[in-house]
Amino acid sequence: MKKLTIAIDGHSSCGKSTLAKQLAAKLNYSYVDTGAMYRCVTLFAFNKDLIVNGLIDENSLVSQLNQINIHFQYNENLGKSETFLNDENVENEIRSLKISDMVSPIAKIKEVRAFLVEQQQKMGKQGGIVMDGRDIGTVVFPNADLKLFMTASVEVRAQRRFLELSETDNFASINDIKKNIEERDFIDSNREESPLRKADDAYVLDNSNLTREEQLAWILEKISNLKI
Ligand code: DC
Repeated sequence: MKKLTIAIDGHSSCGKSTLAKQLAAKLNYSYVDTGAMYRCVTLFAFNKDLIVNGLIDENSLVSQLNQINIHFQYNENLGKSETFLNDENVENEIRSLKISDMVSPIAKIKEVRAFLVEQQQKMGKQGGIVMDGRDIGTVVFPNADLKLFMTASVEVRAQRRFLELSETDNFASINDIKKNIEERDFIDSNREESPLRKADDAYVLDNSNLTREEQLAWILEKISNLKI
């Protein structure tokens, strides 16, 4: 079978990356977490003092985008891929609520999107890739072989994110997490540049009541029915 390009989009914290990782491991494909790339740009902006009191110095950020180098590296000990910003491992830092609170405003900036989309398209040029984000099936790979649009209730998503964060040093209360998820959903869905929306040819998966195994079985069945 040809090496597929699989696009997974959907709301914040609904398990896109969990499913994308499961699928990539099962098919022996590479996995790209595009949200991590927007998070890296946000961390870069903080590190350069380009975000002050919640205000972003967009012009300076755009003029410094060429200083941003993002790559992913597989950590054998942890059995997962980690995100590097200019050769520094920032995997945990980019998941903090401080970054989550500013990442959607950063992801609204047209030049930031163009900068990252170009890299994402290069990464997926050969196929054999599972990529998750908000605009993968609509903008990055409009011709993807399989598109999935995921969602789940806000309560379920907040609970899952809470458990995930409690495994790292990034503590946050359930209420703060829920508020952040709702705000990001709103900004991501209503922005001018590539808003989050379901591609016409995407399957919808609401995984509020599905286990990890069930959602994997669900998508594998869709893949086995592909006419390629
Ligand atoms: O998937 P995530 O929650 O880590 O993504 C963080 C933010 O990045 C999300 O609120 C919106 C933005 N994003 C985006 O605009 N486009 C993508 N392809 C991926 C993420």
